[in-house]
Amino acid sequence: MRALVMTAPGGAEHTEIREVGAPLPGPGQVSVDVAYTGLNFVDVMTRRGDSAYAADWPYRPGKEVSGTVRAVGEGVTGLAVGDRVAAAPVGAGLAEVVLAEAALTAPVPDGVTLAEAAAVPLGLATAMLLLDDAGRFTAGDTVLVHSAGGGIGSAIARLVPLLGGGRLIGTVGRPEKAEAAVAAGYDAAFARGEGLAEAVRAAAGGRGVDLVLDPLGTDALELDLDVAAPGGRIVLFGNAGGGAVADLPPLARLMAGNLTVTGFSHRGLAATAPERLGRAIGKVLGLMSGGGLALPVTELPGLDSVAAAHDAMEQGRALGKYVVRVVG
Ligand SMILES: NC(=O)c1ccc[n+]([C@@H]2O[C@H](COP(=O)([O-])OP(=O)(O)OC[C@H]3O[C@@H](n4cnc5c(N)ncnc54)[C@H](OP(=O)(O)O)[C@@H]3O)[C@@H](O)[C@H]2O)c1
Repeated sequence: MRALVMTAPGGAEHTEIREVGAPLPGPGQVSVDVAYTGLNFVDVMTRRGDSAYAADWPYRPGKEVSGTVRAVGEGVTGLAVGDRVAAAPVGAGLAEVVLAEAALTAPVPDGVTLAEAAAVPLGLATAMLLLDDAGRFTAGDTVLVHSAGGGIGSAIARLVPLLGGGRLIGTVGRPEKAEAAVAAGYDAAFARGEGLAEAVRAAAGGRGVDLVLDPLGTDALELDLDVAAPGGRIVLFGNAGGGAVADLPPLARLMAGNLTVTGFSHRGLAATAPERLGRAIGKVLGLMSGGGLALPVTELPGLDSVAAAHDAMEQGRALGKYVVRVVG
């Protein structure tokens, strides 16, 4: 079978498509014939050589897929060969066949396309967990999202109205992406730069921001603290720039503002509480099946097109969510 392989840290020059053996499921696992794989920034960070991502090289990226069950391992119940599924494999999802834990594999309901479903196991499930779980979103909250123009940013814009609605403010790295964020559902979006805190505060209507979702390491943390409303929650869930991170705020500052700073990791949850991640995947697919949730995706034609898409993501030129057609 064909698989995308990153042979060494660096850029597109180290990305190859290779013939490799198809994996067989072990106990509690399924193998999936992949129709689509979602692209995620974590694969760009891995390719870039950020620490803590690739245990070894060559590395096989790809963390969310859709397709049909090819084989089921011992002890798996509720999934059968031929079922349409979405799954969060540990990795190696940019391939024609992938292994996934059954706990992180969910049936795709009728009426949901496999292209849409490929954006669920990491992207939409993370967006749901950031709001619903880590962020304790309640209807009417004002939410600030950094990197609003990307995959997670656009997913959050779709989910907030379904969770009861609230004012949605985004930041982006390039001015031209602000318009796209507004088109995706943000009430206001600003390019990061001078005057950002004032712009965010004004957009929040004076009271401040109830929930900040921040994947920028600690680069924007000072701003987050500055614009947070009393009792505000700040969820740190990435380090897009890949640089060193600063210390977290002093206790006195958190106490004075009644603020919460918390972390979120999809990978951590998959390892330590897969049932919570599995529930989020199922919940999002359920919302999609009722027609209440649709996330527009840009479909790429094949594994050969992935390296260029990773380039665009790395350079901050990408917009919205990308899925790649792997087989068919
Ligand atoms: N903790 C978790 O479990 C988890 C799960 C999924 C995603 N994430 C994080 O959430 C963020 C969004 O993920 P995504 O897959 O939807 O990707 P994405 O938003 O489609 O792409 C990543 C975006 O990061 C921004 N960025 C900021 N600083 C950057 C830098 N120095 N170099 C390159 N890009 C930079 C760029 O947008 P702007 O310049 O417009 O901001 C870029 O478009 C990523 O940071 C990712 O690591 C975390």
